[in-house]
Amino acid sequence: MASLFLITLTYFSTLMLHLASANVVHVNPCRSYCGNITIDYPFSLQYGCGHPGFRDLLFCMNDVLMFHISSGSYRVLEIDYAYKSLTLHEPHLSTCDTIILGCKGNGFSVEPWRSPYFNPTADNVFMLIGCSAQSPLFQGFPEKHLPCRNVSGMGCEEYFGCPAWSVVGHRQVGSKLGSGQPPECCAVAFEAIKAINLSKLECEGYSSAYSLAPLRIAGPSEWSYGIRVRYSVQGNEEFCRACEATGGACGYGSDGVRQLCMCENFNSTSNCDSVSSATSSRTWYRGSTLAGYLLGMLAWVASNPS
Ligand SMILES: *[C@@H]1O[C@H](CO)[C@@H](O)[C@H](O)[C@H]1NC(C)=O
Ligand SMILES: *[C@@H]1O[C@H](CO)[C@@H](O)[C@H](O)[C@H]1NC(C)=O
Ligand SMILES: *[C@@H]1O[C@H](CO)[C@@H](O)[C@H](O)[C@H]1NC(C)=O
Ligand SMILES: *[C@@H]1O[C@H](CO)[C@@H](O)[C@H](O)[C@H]1NC(C)=O
Repeated sequence: MASLFLITLTYFSTLMLHLASANVVHVNPCRSYCGNITIDYPFSLQYGCGHPGFRDLLFCMNDVLMFHISSGSYRVLEIDYAYKSLTLHEPHLSTCDTIILGCKGNGFSVEPWRSPYFNPTADNVFMLIGCSAQSPLFQGFPEKHLPCRNVSGMGCEEYFGCPAWSVVGHRQVGSKLGSGQPPECCAVAFEAIKAINLSKLECEGYSSAYSLAPLRIAGPSEWSYGIRVRYSVQGNEEFCRACEATGGACGYGSDGVRQLCMCENFNSTSNCDSVSSATSSRTWYRGSTLAGYLLGMLAWVASNPS
């Protein structure tokens, strides 16, 4: 009788210990997928998850990940968490095969509150096509020198070698704005103008390319077309690291500003090991307490054989 009780007790104690430890290794509810792209901090698809600077940004539609900012919607081709960058594309971005005019392109500009978090990379070239002579792009430069230059070895001279240009045709490019005739294409880095807005810049179209390899790439047909954007949580990495290390998921409060660590049964303003902001008790402790109680009974039964 006592031995049967012992076996049963041992079984339940072991079970409770398993349940208690299973509670600790729980799945992060903020991590998700869209097609084959992993969505992880600071990004998220759910409101309340991720970093507040990245809220209302990504949307998943039929396994296609979309990035939405004030200049428009872009398809996300890749999120590189190691290099903190993402690669975007949109249908009105000209490539080596197609040139799209008519001022339809998104370009790239973000809401002022979001701008600290996103910046096209320094090796991303924006090539502005068919801008008017009155374009702000050509104003304010002494002796009518143009702001156009090569970025990471990519520029308009080489871009003109693309098959798409043999269809459209182009004028020659000089380094000065002579006789009111602007260049057909002007390449700039994002840093130079801070916002690629085709209607504001009075341009017909644009292309954007980036180089991943440090070595010189063969030619414009080998460039990667798309917008390479660097993201940053503004030196605020520590909060999420500490939160995840204690088993929490990183998120933010309903004010859309304050960061929150979502623990199993409560939200913390620091991490899941801090008791100061606990809003309810934790099942981990309850589980361990019950297992401990059963083990105690087991020991008592074992030491009092009848
Ligand atoms: C994701 O799928 C697309 C095609 O559906 C493919 O081109 C791309 O390389 C895949 N990306 C990864 C990271 O597997
Ligand atoms: C682009 O510029 C136009 C004209 O200045 C302006 O109306 C529009 O709001 C700008 N778009 C963005 C996304 O800033
Ligand atoms: C860009 O590079 C090309 C090819 O190397 C060169 O011919 C051209 O002068 C450069 N353009 C500018 C604006 O520096
Ligand atoms: C924790 O915060 C998230 C996101 O703001 C919210 O959905 C959830 O209900 C909160 N949980 C608790 C226990 O307060």
